[in-house]
Amino acid sequence: MAAEVTIIDHPFVQHKLTLMRQADTSTAKFRQLLKEVGMLLAYEVTRDLPLKYEPIKTPLAPMMAPMLAPEKKMVVVSIMRAGQGLLDGILELMPSARVGHIGLYREPTTHVAIEYYFKLPHDVEQRDILVVDPMLATGNSAVAAVDRLKEVGPMSMKFLCLLAAPEGIKHFHEQHPDVPIYTAAIDECLDEQGYILPGLGDAGDRLYGTK
Ligand code: URA
Repeated sequence: MAAEVTIIDHPFVQHKLTLMRQADTSTAKFRQLLKEVGMLLAYEVTRDLPLKYEPIKTPLAPMMAPMLAPEKKMVVVSIMRAGQGLLDGILELMPSARVGHIGLYREPTTHVAIEYYFKLPHDVEQRDILVVDPMLATGNSAVAAVDRLKEVGPMSMKFLCLLAAPEGIKHFHEQHPDVPIYTAAIDECLDEQGYILPGLGDAGDRLYGTK
């Protein structure tokens, strides 16, 4: 199966990403931008949602009008903790989406993803999952999250991030060629600590001001 990566190159997304990359962007501003960009990215990722035609009445005439199919409610799964920042924006666009959480931390020397939390809505096997994490760096967390979610058997999965490294995309698609990736940009490479270069630093620290 061909690996699929979609770059969301909308000018608003690109502009906001540049502001987020800048080292002197404050925590408050970074948080606000991640939320805004989360909404814009979700808008692009959900382009293929099916519509149903329902009879409605405008003030002037009846018509058949398109509406989102209610049974297509998505489950957004946030990889904690930085996924929360994207999730907040996504929920502005889809307030009735179900939400799951996966807690993973990167073991500092090996960069292996260790799970410490896992909570999903009960009917995930009848739903489409959007997994969100701002940074696809080594790909270890994303692969571990999707491995775990496949055990539950959702109807489909997509992976959404803000920034990806070529190494992470390669690793992810070797393990999960059936899961398309959506990202705002693909950067150059990883450094020795597994950070994306030029990147934006540690997304969790920048989101929560923990550094
Ligand atoms: N996680 C981050 O928050 N930033 C990176 O650059 C890589 C992983």
